[in-house]
Amino acid sequence: MTSIKVLGINGSPRKNKSSRFQLEVALEAAQETAPDRVETELYSISTKTFYPCDACYQCEKLGHCRKIDDDFAELRDKWMAADVVIYSVPVYHMGIPAQLKAFIDRLGHSVQEGFDDRQMRVVGVLTSGDGFATGQESVMMFLNNHALMLGCIPVGGLYPVGYIGIGARVHYGTTMRKEHEAGNAHIVEAIDATRQLGKHLVLVSTLIKAGGEQNRALLEQDGGYGLFLQRLGSE
Ligand SMILES: Cc1cc2nc3c(=O)[nH]c(=O)nc-3n(C[C@H](O)[C@H](O)[C@H](O)COP(=O)(O)O)c2cc1C
Repeated sequence: MTSIKVLGINGSPRKNKSSRFQLEVALEAAQETAPDRVETELYSISTKTFYPCDACYQCEKLGHCRKIDDDFAELRDKWMAADVVIYSVPVYHMGIPAQLKAFIDRLGHSVQEGFDDRQMRVVGVLTSGDGFATGQESVMMFLNNHALMLGCIPVGGLYPVGYIGIGARVHYGTTMRKEHEAGNAHIVEAIDATRQLGKHLVLVSTLIKAGGEQNRALLEQDGGYGLFLQRLGSE
């Protein structure tokens, strides 16, 4: 039976606010989709340290980012082992928080030899901002492009809260959990769509992994699927 490892990354420096709530909903839905085969983990970047890439280019020789005394390797290893990655991220100045960007810059040059390997990891994006159309779309586009660049498969959300992920609006001074409990119509819609996305990510990953297992010889012969085959082989 195909097992699915789902890694949820809370990209907010605030450990237990809106990003966390939205991520918990997605992970719960992922788990409920196939309880006997889905394993979920929630990783929060809050309290972790990720130093930025300093362009030393040692990764070109080493094949991975040089050892730096921070939390990068811990999250990289979890990311590499996951079949599904769910990012739940606040909008910071139309983009993602600096801590997560530092991780992604170093991840990209640590895992892709020549950026030509199809990792077939499924990626979904949840985001919230204080305003309306104040950066949610930029965050989703950036993280979907990051997924494509690393040979992953971005999976989008449902109308009307986001074709390309789930983009919510939460006023400063409240949280998504409180607004959901209060029945705020937009947040109820966003949380329903978040649940749908959590489920969909597991289903897409199941199809991809089952297809990979059935077509292993073809993929080995074709080349370019090394990291995906390694992940299938670690079952
Ligand atoms: C430094 C900083 C920059 C922010 N920039 C934006 C922004 O450009 N657009 C926006 O809609 N919200 C912005 N926000 C608000 C957060 O995205 C919003 O409050 C989010 O829901 C917080 O998520 P959290 O509760 O998980 O931390 C910013 C907040 C901070 C602290």
